[in-house]
Amino acid sequence: LTGAPRVARTRTELAAALSELRRGGARVGLVPTMGFLHAGHLALVDHAAGVSDAVVVSIFVNPLQFGPDEDLARYPRDLDRDLSLVASRGAELVFAPPVEVMYPHGEPQVRVTPGRGGERLCGAFRPGHFEGVLTVVARLFGLVRPDVAVFGRKDAQQAALIRQMVQDLELGVDIEVAPLVREADGLALSSRNAYLDPDEREVAPMLFRALAAADRGFRGGETRPGALVSRVHEVLGASGAAPSPVFRPEYVEVVDPVTLETPDVVRPGHLLAAAGWLGGTRLIDNVVLGAADPDPRATE
Ligand code: PAF
Repeated sequence: LTGAPRVARTRTELAAALSELRRGGARVGLVPTMGFLHAGHLALVDHAAGVSDAVVVSIFVNPLQFGPDEDLARYPRDLDRDLSLVASRGAELVFAPPVEVMYPHGEPQVRVTPGRGGERLCGAFRPGHFEGVLTVVARLFGLVRPDVAVFGRKDAQQAALIRQMVQDLELGVDIEVAPLVREADGLALSSRNAYLDPDEREVAPMLFRALAAADRGFRGGETRPGALVSRVHEVLGASGAAPSPVFRPEYVEVVDPVTLETPDVVRPGHLLAAAGWLGGTRLIDNVVLGAADPDPRATE
């Protein structure tokens, strides 16, 4: 274990801690999170440590990115556990502001809209979600002024939109996207997995298995996006029959990881992304088509 990180809850504490960290010209890396940390988040912290001198982890469940019928109230929270996990990875500072510190004047009047890329995939099903994400990330960048910020590939659309924001608004923060981390059976790690009951948990890896089946099809020579999408639906359709939980897909799409547009012909590096519901839990996942590692036991 390395020493416990310093915790800042107010803007004054944050400013004081940052000015100490920056003494000597340290390059500051930021890992924005909503807490309830898992190994996927810790991989982001490790990644940040590799590309900066001092790592700041923010923990803030951002109300702006939740729709009125979404899970803001029940989103899992455990700050003490988060702090000991972060301590084990050597982050220097945790910024864990209460909502009135983050948004002292109430909901911000000026917001960052994501543009076309924000209307596709998850954006089509979660109106306002990416506007909430970009607005809080812009605010975190303003408060922490990081040199580099690290996001996970599990939220590939979020990462693409943040890169676009940094480019379009000239924010001057390097954006790194770190690999996603899976359970041994292939389920992508997510704080929301805590919602799954034991039966749902058993069915949940089906989403990755369906994406991996389509990836095998791509490796076998199939380059039509529609055919890969159909393969995913086929595998998901064969998963479980009532009374066992059934995965209800919201979307399955092949997209370019930068533009988020569907290509005419699939090439290695395109993303196959999917989202859907298992009972009351919304799961998302994606694979990089043709990437080196289809093995669910490995981290990609
Ligand atoms: O990915 C998340 O946990 C959140 O969307 C983020 C980037 C911390 C913004 O609230």
